[in-house]
Amino acid sequence: MSLTVTYQNLSDGSFTDTVQGAIQWKDIAACVGSFLESVQSELIHQSKAFVPELTEICSQALSGKGKLLRPTVFALTVSSLGKLDKKCVTVATVLEMIHLASLIHDDVIDGADVRRKQPTFAHLCGNRTAILLGDCILSQAAYLASGLGNEQVTQKILSSARSICIGETLQSLHTVDICTHEQYFKVISLKTGELFALASELGALMAGASPDVCGQMRQYGMSLGTAYQLYDDCVDIFSTEKDSGKSQGIDLSIGKQTLPVLLLLEKADTSDKKQVLSILEEWTPERTSELLPFLKRYSILSSCISVAEKLLSDASRAAAGLSRTESRLCLNRLIRYISQQMNSLTT
Ligand code: IPE
Ligand code: IPE
Ligand code: MG
Ligand code: MG
Ligand code: MG
Repeated sequence: MSLTVTYQNLSDGSFTDTVQGAIQWKDIAACVGSFLESVQSELIHQSKAFVPELTEICSQALSGKGKLLRPTVFALTVSSLGKLDKKCVTVATVLEMIHLASLIHDDVIDGADVRRKQPTFAHLCGNRTAILLGDCILSQAAYLASGLGNEQVTQKILSSARSICIGETLQSLHTVDICTHEQYFKVISLKTGELFALASELGALMAGASPDVCGQMRQYGMSLGTAYQLYDDCVDIFSTEKDSGKSQGIDLSIGKQTLPVLLLLEKADTSDKKQVLSILEEWTPERTSELLPFLKRYSILSSCISVAEKLLSDASRAAAGLSRTESRLCLNRLIRYISQQMNSLTT
């Protein structure tokens, strides 16, 4: 399937991306590589902020093999508009800590055993310890944010942390009845879009950008992050544990309705819908192979790709006002990267 994202102001020769084919993650992160190394060091340093007995477990939690997506979005935005400094390392560390704490809690909620090809903390230490470990990291992130000396930045960080909790709580409440598209997009923008929106908005704010540009960059992050969660929801169904490094088919195990399932239930004829509902009623991740023919019959993956492409085009439009720097190019590459990953899924 070809990439169909419409890019804004990228067609003239002075701003042609040198990466024409498939984009690797390093093509995006390299632009702010040394900054990301500082963030990684600061994360490891933060594991000593608790008590000696917790240093090892916190260092495992904070030095995982994540992509540092949110710090990358933040850093690319700052450097599109200004300069990265030491305070930026703290902000990026806080963003990643909130993300990491949310993943530790999320694996408890979802009953997931595998993340980043490793056992989850819930699986390794049990739900009780995993919840408390997530709490330690989340409260340390809030403590670090409070020391930034910028009330506006601290409030925005804490407000986004609250949004993630609201999103996960709403999602949990929607597991009983079939939810609407509106409810689905509300959940994914709160639980995932918000932290990306925060990353790019704070990037603009810390670079001294105008309120208008800060607002546009918030929109970039919101659209990008929402598309990323939609992609991740497709991964849960259309990928494998070997490729994703995460437990598969988990969303349906907890009754979570994601866009592929919502669309299938809407599009299926009466007889197919009956069969799909009977699979969902007694769902186990192994039953994904029974669901796939129905998803294929109604072209559900293509429909999800179209929705993601629309969100990514919105992100591209929001970033169009930035000046033509290498970092701006990488923000657009990130859009292309998510589109590429989404298009690489198959039924
Ligand atoms: C996973 O996020 C959770 C979602 C919001 C989809 P990432 O894909 O950024 O996770 P890591 O940190 O790179 O493992
Ligand atoms: C959770 O979404 C995203 C968070 C905000 C924690 P998922 O439950 O789909 O994330 P993964 O697939 O476990 O990474
Ligand atoms: Mg999960
Ligand atoms: Mg979840
Ligand atoms: Mg997921």
